[in-house]
Amino acid sequence: MSTGTPYYITTPIYYVNDAPHIGHAYTTLACDVLARFMRLDGRRVHFLTGTDEHGQKVEKSAKAAGVDPLAFCDRVSQNFRDLAAAMNFSNDDFIRTTEPRHIASVQAIWNELKARGQIYLGSYAGWYSVRDEAFYAESELVDGKAPTGAEVEWVEEPSYFFRLSAWQQPLLEFYAAHPDFIAPESRRNEVVSFVQSGLRDLSVSRTSFGWGVPVPGDRDHIMYVWLDALTNYITAVGYPDTEAEAFRTFWPASLHMVGKDILRFHAVYWPAFLMAAGLPPPQRVFAHGWWTIEGQKMSKSLGNVVNPRDLVERYGLDPVRYFLLREVPFGNDGDFSDRQMVHRMNGDLANDYGNLVQRVLSMVAKNCAGRTPQPGPLAAADTELLGRASALLPMVRELLLEQQFHRALETIWEVVGAANRYVDEQAPWALRKTDPPRMATVLYVLAETIRRLALLTHPFMPQASAKILDQLGVPGERRGFGDLGDASALVPGTPLPKPEGVFPRHVDPAAT
Ligand code: MSP
Repeated sequence: MSTGTPYYITTPIYYVNDAPHIGHAYTTLACDVLARFMRLDGRRVHFLTGTDEHGQKVEKSAKAAGVDPLAFCDRVSQNFRDLAAAMNFSNDDFIRTTEPRHIASVQAIWNELKARGQIYLGSYAGWYSVRDEAFYAESELVDGKAPTGAEVEWVEEPSYFFRLSAWQQPLLEFYAAHPDFIAPESRRNEVVSFVQSGLRDLSVSRTSFGWGVPVPGDRDHIMYVWLDALTNYITAVGYPDTEAEAFRTFWPASLHMVGKDILRFHAVYWPAFLMAAGLPPPQRVFAHGWWTIEGQKMSKSLGNVVNPRDLVERYGLDPVRYFLLREVPFGNDGDFSDRQMVHRMNGDLANDYGNLVQRVLSMVAKNCAGRTPQPGPLAAADTELLGRASALLPMVRELLLEQQFHRALETIWEVVGAANRYVDEQAPWALRKTDPPRMATVLYVLAETIRRLALLTHPFMPQASAKILDQLGVPGERRGFGDLGDASALVPGTPLPKPEGVFPRHVDPAAT
């Protein structure tokens, strides 16, 4: 296990009322890339995902499917685990809110809040949206619906309340003291003005249905699903045992990744619950945008819900991973279209990166007897290219600490472009006749540049990058970012396997 600085990253836990789709895959993919990057960068990573299994929405879906809620959850939760395997996600844990460890943890935070005078019994009368699992004030409704467009129903029932109103000022102070807590900036401003406009106490229990965690000491109530769900982030590191090694190492979390629709729960309610329970809030919450499909909102009724498995089958896993993070500035909404997918896949991957790798490896196979070439003295152009590849790490690290995936890839691709230009300028095929030692140097410099690029693209495209590193004869234990420098450079004379293409072009089956 690495001893580096801890990095704890979480995805939202997914509702089991839905089959996994591209939106879910997107959130977890972003976390996977960060988790993989931080591990290769020597950090001690804990990467958590899982499923959110309580609440009225799940209870209704189970009823509609004619099965008992837990049996329903078992089935759908497994689909999310299978998605993680299909997308090559490297999560360290998968949490389900129906697990005993979690139920114990939610009841413990409830007791803690109660003991601190943060929860009181009252009664709730107002609007509730089952789809959003959220309460809305009359003034928030738009044409009789939730601001998200979801149907609302009138609810009147006894309820415990959390003293959210008391946390308005502490939250504003917390945001001011931690300017990086909410990203992107525009979302941060939205949250701050929401809190500035005043906070009402929050209903945190329900009595009108039964699928949830029982409120300790009051059997008539179950806990509000968001209090239950948010607590998963501390359950997974050992709460209520705050002295546990995992808790002391990983809490507060480095990053909660969420979609823009659930930012308020993570950036307002969650830090308030934590502060009220005497625990530190997470370090950062990033709200990403939403995908539409060929210009339309994804919805079951339109029948355009994209199953990530179908995409992977059509285009291959790593091209899909690359596309989702390269195509849209992270934080913005994006549109998925097959045209753009093919454009990126055939352009950035097959033509730029793939062609570089293929040209170089096949020249090495043909002209250097299938062994890593022996370089001679390096010219200025050689050291410049190698230097640019090495200089990528600090730039990419900084961009990823800000969740700027598209810019990180753009920056790496600048060096892919520089390497392709270097091939054309140096023309190793011509040197083969005129100056074979110089040809060997040029091919060595290129192979070494590709090694560095493959280490850096590894978090984004683990399989393809590993395939490139295998073809360069790089041993498995030499693939961390500590190996980017000259000390781990390719060893001349190493026998190399027969090169194979890594990034195929997509040819539309209908066009052939
Ligand atoms: N269960 C809650 C989260 C609780 S976390 C303590 C939930 N689940 S969800 O399954 O509805 O949504 C999970 C994530 O998927 C959210 O971050 C949401 O933004 C994301 N997406 C759902 N549809 C999406 C798109 N069309 N595009 C991108 N992401 C989307 O909310």
